[in-house]
Amino acid sequence: MCGIIGYIGYRKASEVILEGLRKLEYRGYDSAGIATLSGKIQLIKDAGRLDEIHRRRNFLQLEGTIGIGHTRWATHGGVSQKNAHPHSDSHGKIFLVHNGVIENFEELRASLSKKGHRFSSETDTEAIAHLVEEELKKEKDFGKAFSNAISMLKGTWSVVCISEGEEAIHASRNGPPLVIGIGEGEMFCASDVPALLAYTKKVVFLEDGDRAVIKKGGFEIFSGSKRVRRKIHSINWSAQMAEKGGYPHFMLKEISEQPAKIREALSADVDEAAAILGGQEHFTVVACGSSYYAGLVFKSIAQSILGVPCEVILGSEFQYARTGKEKVVIAISQSGETADTLSAARLAKSSGAKVVAITNVLGSSLYREADASVMIGAGPELSVVATKSFTCQVAVLAKIALALGKREKELERLQGVSEKIEKVLESQSKIKKLADRLSRFKDFFYIGRGMAFPSALEGALKLKEITYLHAEAYAAGELKHGPLSLLDKNVVVVALAPADSSFPKTMSNVQECLARNANLVVLSDSKQALGKAKLSLAVPKAEGAEIPLVYSVPLQLLAYYLAVKLKRDPDKPRNLAKSVTVE
Ligand code: G6P
Repeated sequence: MCGIIGYIGYRKASEVILEGLRKLEYRGYDSAGIATLSGKIQLIKDAGRLDEIHRRRNFLQLEGTIGIGHTRWATHGGVSQKNAHPHSDSHGKIFLVHNGVIENFEELRASLSKKGHRFSSETDTEAIAHLVEEELKKEKDFGKAFSNAISMLKGTWSVVCISEGEEAIHASRNGPPLVIGIGEGEMFCASDVPALLAYTKKVVFLEDGDRAVIKKGGFEIFSGSKRVRRKIHSINWSAQMAEKGGYPHFMLKEISEQPAKIREALSADVDEAAAILGGQEHFTVVACGSSYYAGLVFKSIAQSILGVPCEVILGSEFQYARTGKEKVVIAISQSGETADTLSAARLAKSSGAKVVAITNVLGSSLYREADASVMIGAGPELSVVATKSFTCQVAVLAKIALALGKREKELERLQGVSEKIEKVLESQSKIKKLADRLSRFKDFFYIGRGMAFPSALEGALKLKEITYLHAEAYAAGELKHGPLSLLDKNVVVVALAPADSSFPKTMSNVQECLARNANLVVLSDSKQALGKAKLSLAVPKAEGAEIPLVYSVPLQLLAYYLAVKLKRDPDKPRNLAKSVTVE
């Protein structure tokens, strides 16, 4: 969701911040702004895309070597210039940016209004700037005034603040991530590492309750009034990893990286996770979005080869669905910051469960709070929708299940899956043509059975996220229990028909669709299945855990080329955010 960056050093702050905000665009946003300090604080903010605002207003006219920037994803107050961050106090001397939700903002606004403060936005954030202003009337030291103001907040926040006369950035974290980047004679802070990669790989992740004072030459972190030390991490992601590298979109780059990234994922160290999961009689998985579908793959493998019952619960539903007796919870989250997944993991932990995290982000909240973490090794994923992170999650989860089941042979076979995905990538021009032929349709159903069902779910999710077309997925056998009533010549059915034990039944379901004149697209490794439909795509033969990996990739490409054909931006779908830090 909202993206934050702060800079203090010797470079032109507006340049560093603009570049940093570009790297945070993937988080999803609707407005943006930058404030820099050069004697006085100067501000440019507006609704719209970063580059549009920059074209109209030119962020680089902002002078100074200290500044803060923000991409906003609206929660409190509509998408407008006045609601865009940074927000300031009454006198335009204190400016801050915020990610999260201040739950007591109405009370704060009411009491500050009584004291004469005038608000110029509808946001919860603005109250924080006025609170700092109010505290400064009683307390000369800015750090203390900032800290006093923060102590009055309820809710979640990452706040980064600058003020006239202060050669420092003040920051506080309680919920949404905030990372400090350590340079030579310059310091950074940001919501996420990709914003910093061009300048430094040395970072410190703030923990909940931390407050930081960041100066050119260093930083101090406080927890309450106590100074604390936090570990300095070295990031092994490179600046190039956060670039498009010649691809027109991050999404296509990330789809194309999958063979290499899945190889890396399959070499992940799963021993610590396996030690916690081994011998358990029941698994609970919590996750959201694509990560939830990766959880469904784990469930299929774990139940079929280990005979261990596994429940997969959406992060947001865990509080209602849990028994309270969960012994081990697997929390899957690319970002490691999804609020619903995090609160499910915390709830499980508070009632005694061990938490195993499957994540892509070192130092993320989930990574830090879990009893064991497995890194999926997908590298930075900057398109809003999950592609390589989904397949890497599936690869790691399959590895864990196969390792627990001591299925060495199957594990070895799984190592070959990247070559099959390379073949799928080679058929891109065919998938592009398919997308062209399907671009006049508005309704899509994706069907699959067994191991192909999570791919059907993921395929439909990709399509709706980036094309804004109606897409839903069904277990193929469920068609006759409802959705068949919707099928006619205006509807597309994408049938996933791997030639495994589910094949004969999937083919019966394919016939049901043909009988209703639906436009059938078959993805299969069987000539018989491919011959049934006017539109089809041959997919390499896949078995077991390979199926969700091999079948998801052509569906990612289909969604991508349809979005491009329909002139949608696949990297930045409307209304969506990559890292969803509110419940
Ligand atoms: C958002 C993203 C999805 C992602 C989901 C879960 O909705 O747009 O692509 O699957 O969050 O994210 P996580 O980081 O927890 O895997």
